[in-house]
Amino acid sequence: MAVGGFAVDDNSRAFSGRVTASVVITCIVAASGGLIFGYDIGISGGVTTMQPFLKKFFPVVLRKAADAKTNIYCVYDSHVLTAFTSSLYIAGLAASLVASRLTRAVGRRNTMIIGGLTFLIGAALNGGAENVAMLILGRILLGFGVGFTNQATPIYLSEMAPPKWRGAFGTSFQFFIGIGVVVANCLNYGTAKISWGWRLSLGLAIVPSVIMTVGALLISDTPSSLVERGKVAQARDSLRKARGKDIDIEPELAELVKTSEAVKAANEEPFVTIFERQYRPHLVMAFAIPFFQQLTGINIIAFYAPVLFQSVGFGSDSALIASIILGCVNLLSIIVSTFIVDRYGRRILFLEGGTQMIIGQVAVACVLAVTTGVSGTKDIPRGYAVLVLVLMCIYAAGFGWSWGPLSWLIPSEIFPMKIRTTGQAISVAVNFATTFVLAQTFLTMLCHFKYGTFLFYAGWLITMTLFVILFVPETKGIPLESMYQVWERHWFWRRFVSLP
Ligand code: BGC
Repeated sequence: MAVGGFAVDDNSRAFSGRVTASVVITCIVAASGGLIFGYDIGISGGVTTMQPFLKKFFPVVLRKAADAKTNIYCVYDSHVLTAFTSSLYIAGLAASLVASRLTRAVGRRNTMIIGGLTFLIGAALNGGAENVAMLILGRILLGFGVGFTNQATPIYLSEMAPPKWRGAFGTSFQFFIGIGVVVANCLNYGTAKISWGWRLSLGLAIVPSVIMTVGALLISDTPSSLVERGKVAQARDSLRKARGKDIDIEPELAELVKTSEAVKAANEEPFVTIFERQYRPHLVMAFAIPFFQQLTGINIIAFYAPVLFQSVGFGSDSALIASIILGCVNLLSIIVSTFIVDRYGRRILFLEGGTQMIIGQVAVACVLAVTTGVSGTKDIPRGYAVLVLVLMCIYAAGFGWSWGPLSWLIPSEIFPMKIRTTGQAISVAVNFATTFVLAQTFLTMLCHFKYGTFLFYAGWLITMTLFVILFVPETKGIPLESMYQVWERHWFWRRFVSLP
């Protein structure tokens, strides 16, 4: 099998990796952990453009919006509003680092339950908010919830899935994020018409949190996590359910026990271990993958699309419809990745998706430059606005089958057991930190760089596509316990990893 220009033994048949009904159901339930993150992304974008919400909590933004009408790029350039949206990411960042220990100590499933419950309390606080303090406190709790679940869920999926189909199972997390976004957008479409609609939108976040928490209560933890916590008998049951009754699960269990014993014997601090030279490739990926995912500009496109369409006279309804269309395109493309990721691999998706996004961003920049003028004061003719929407869909599809799902999948599958939860925690923290920094800067950037903002992200997309070509090995089909091989055979990373 070719892996980024070199070969790796196909170990996928080392353990019987059949897809059973039980493992499918379990993983779908677990993946619903993505719902709360997606719902929040979708809701917060919409709520912060609702007049009654702004009037109650951020009246200064409304005044500013009235003044800035002439320039489509500067309408929402408000630091207070950005601080509100971003408080979730700072809380999530802190939570994901704590979650590393929690996920190891109490298991993946229990961390998901804790995350779901914290999110639920945050949602209730937000729905009933009477002042900014309640709003921010609620948002911090939502952040903790998302931090925990984003840390534990991708690991859960990777450990539970049969190696041969791990990619497909992994993409389901992003699929649920996508569902959350679309549902939230549709809901905002309805609630925007009610004066207290923002309460409904924020409060209804309770629903996805109940769905995921109850779901998590019904599933068992992953065999790896159970073994890690000394529950070998339960791990055997979990593995038998996942792999099927007629499959000999003992070799896979023995491998997990062996790895876990080695980890315990070494008794190392994972946050120190991950900085050892032999884990340099892992560490680089933990930082680079989520960092690059955010620099695709996905959240900026998602935020900007409704503003753009509204400002060119499509009306607020059409603006929301435009974001719903984008969300649906994104969802469909994630399904495409589910079918491709284990057949043709991760790299091909990264490369194709990346190229498609570069074309989309550059084209959007060109259309905006030509139609709105350098100052952004000219109106875009309707036909061109539709063209922008089409280009954004092309971009969203590219994201949906590449950096969207793969940014959760790759970090969950490349780390050896001893640094798995730590590596994933770093990765989630970097995702949140980058989202935070971009959110702080992008409205100002849009206001000053105007359509050039899209070229900025296109530049990053070129960089990350080159990074994938040179440094990201193919991981398709390789069991988690054999993943060290991909580094040993990589033209660059081989110098860091020691041969066993
Ligand atoms: C990203 C989010 C993004 C979402 C869009 C996730 O993978 O981490 O930042 O908003 O995809 O669907």
